[in-house]
Amino acid sequence: MTALRIAGGTVVTHEAAFRADILIRGERIAAILGPDEPAEATETIDAAGLHILPGAIDVHVHFREPGFAWKETWASGTRAAAAGGVTTVFEMPNTDPATATPDSVAAKIAHAQPQAYVDFGVYGLLSEASLPHLAEMRAAGAVAFKLFLGSDNPRTPCPSDGAVLEAFEALAGLGLRTTIHAENTPILKWREARLKAAGRRDFAAHLEMHADIAAVEATCRAALFAEWTGAKIHIAHESCRHSVPWIAHAKARGVDITAETCPHYLLLSTADEARLPGSFLRVKPPLRGPEHAEPLWRALLDGTIDMISTDHAPHLPAEKARESMWEVAPGFPGVETSMPLMLAQVSAGRMTLSDYVRRSAFNAARAFGLFPRKGLIAPGSDADLVLVDMARRGEVRAASLHSLGNATPFEGFALHGLPVRTLVRGRTVALEGRALDAAGWGRNVAA
Ligand code: DOR
Repeated sequence: MTALRIAGGTVVTHEAAFRADILIRGERIAAILGPDEPAEATETIDAAGLHILPGAIDVHVHFREPGFAWKETWASGTRAAAAGGVTTVFEMPNTDPATATPDSVAAKIAHAQPQAYVDFGVYGLLSEASLPHLAEMRAAGAVAFKLFLGSDNPRTPCPSDGAVLEAFEALAGLGLRTTIHAENTPILKWREARLKAAGRRDFAAHLEMHADIAAVEATCRAALFAEWTGAKIHIAHESCRHSVPWIAHAKARGVDITAETCPHYLLLSTADEARLPGSFLRVKPPLRGPEHAEPLWRALLDGTIDMISTDHAPHLPAEKARESMWEVAPGFPGVETSMPLMLAQVSAGRMTLSDYVRRSAFNAARAFGLFPRKGLIAPGSDADLVLVDMARRGEVRAASLHSLGNATPFEGFALHGLPVRTLVRGRTVALEGRALDAAGWGRNVAA
């Protein structure tokens, strides 16, 4: 078996940063060594001056296959992940067909496997039709379930409250977490019809449709159903400061609820319309006013929001550039830019590297049953590691991203601190911001 020593770096965990070498045997961390501690190694990576972090775990990406391969494929999406320091991704079920049956879960995993550069999980769709098949979908390899409480997509419809409650009863028994797009569909649909009837097609109408109360209500309802049933839930892409106290309240009541937010809700707002066409900024849930970012940061740092995901939603630039806001494809690519953008925040003094690791990897691994295999730098854990150069500076450039749908809203953002090498289970899958040839190395974490 090969033995790889990563020598001379600073190891960063969720609670500390310290000088140490890492010994990797095969796919796992074998030992954490003092700098001069001897060990048999067949290869050494010089990490002098670098920090070594657990690879990021992004529990919210859309890789678009089957159905929309021009926006992203499993190969292009996992290359982007590798280049961005992300070693595990969970992929969403709003493909075509949706990942809504045991067979479609199995088919997606079979399709993803030979393309994947990083480890992955596949979400099963929680719908009225999938309700009788949740256990079979888990058996087919689903890592978790996705529930669209806010949906205008006929392939991923919002189930009735009756079905959601029954699903939560079933999922409490199965033990898998459900990630929830928490918006109230009847409110969204009602407002959309009103706004369209009034001839509105501007960016502000998007926010008026996705009113704060639609997010708050769905978050509270989901938390209440989770408390009632014992189901584990995860609030996706938190964008609204008014939901934060309700998540904290549910946690205080003992609900098994976790939450994520994304770089675009922390770093962008409606004020970015001064910089980019408003319609380009369309994303669901929406970018809200600038007053939301600070409360989201506070919640991220005090633990109310547990983790950073990306809602990586690649679209082609032409799909983001349509004239009517209603026709513009919602969402942004994010899996490759998340770590660099957050490291820039570390460099700016917003948080420590350990704060970041807790929110980029440790908490996600714990919430979704991957811990201590992932999210931890310790003997026995998978050698999913990112070497980071905190002195390195750069800029976000759409043209250098690996995603097919590379229409980033962060073009030109200054970066300070970059991932320079990504290892997945001991194998280097990206170097200096470029993915290496490692298709097929990724594994389904729920296998
Ligand atoms: O803006 C979004 N885009 N929000 C979602 O929930 C889905 C995503 C997509 O798939 O494009």
